[in-house]
Amino acid sequence: MKIDPITGGIGAELSGIDLKQPISDDLAGALRDALDRYLLVVFRDQFLDTEQHYRLVRAFGSPCVNPYGPGPADHPEMTYIIKEAAERTGVFGGGWHTDLAFTETPPNGSVLAAIEVPPYGGDTLWANQRLAFETLPEPMKLLLEGRNAIHVGKPYGVKWAPPIEEQSMKGSTRRGDPEADKERFHPAVLTHPRTGEKSLYVNPTYTMRLDGLSEEESRPILAQLFEHATLPEFSCRLTWSAGTIAIWDNYSTQHYAINDYHGFRREMRRITFQADPISAWC
Ligand code: SIN
Repeated sequence: MKIDPITGGIGAELSGIDLKQPISDDLAGALRDALDRYLLVVFRDQFLDTEQHYRLVRAFGSPCVNPYGPGPADHPEMTYIIKEAAERTGVFGGGWHTDLAFTETPPNGSVLAAIEVPPYGGDTLWANQRLAFETLPEPMKLLLEGRNAIHVGKPYGVKWAPPIEEQSMKGSTRRGDPEADKERFHPAVLTHPRTGEKSLYVNPTYTMRLDGLSEEESRPILAQLFEHATLPEFSCRLTWSAGTIAIWDNYSTQHYAINDYHGFRREMRRITFQADPISAWC
């Protein structure tokens, strides 16, 4: 396996592996080690069928159903992320976020496969939240460590899901589920259960406030954190081609799908996974 870092901040491209073949325990261990180190790992030219996609996910953890974007009955853990050529409105994931932070047990990671990509645009950005935490001033670390942040899923339903009338066609995301609007409390700083490294776990899409502070009091602190957390020095930008697979640590990164390919279709398939629940990261 060859490992080429993408930037100094985050991500590596892994080559010399055929993910269509069964994944040995040794290879699975090496993939998990690479993910722990680079937080985002990318593979090119892997045209996986649904079963192979699931097999890759299982090398990292158990596949999870996305309650707001369940797949078909025979593979409910698969979320279809599709933007049709004629659509101009919001795009799924079109803002800095961590996947499903507004749920009680957000998934540890995601395995996203590019099926059809536009001729240009449709890139995805990631930012390393370990570096974001490490480089905060000490007083800010003291304020955040041991404190919960409160997350709400409203933006998921309002901004990213297609309008009600389109939902039956897409079979992907659902709008307006009141469960998503419940407040969820998660630590603002997570500690990786194996490496012991800390990462900042707040994001501008879902994080509403810090525990013990009102929304108004939290706002300037969160605004500063959000700006810091997505600095170019912590980030990378992935240009997809069909067959590209990206796997990321959802507790130590944020990502952002760029909506700049109007007039072209883009289809991605994502399965999230759970290995160590958020309670193990406290
Ligand atoms: C996501 O937020 O998981 C989707 C990312 C993408 O479509 O690039």
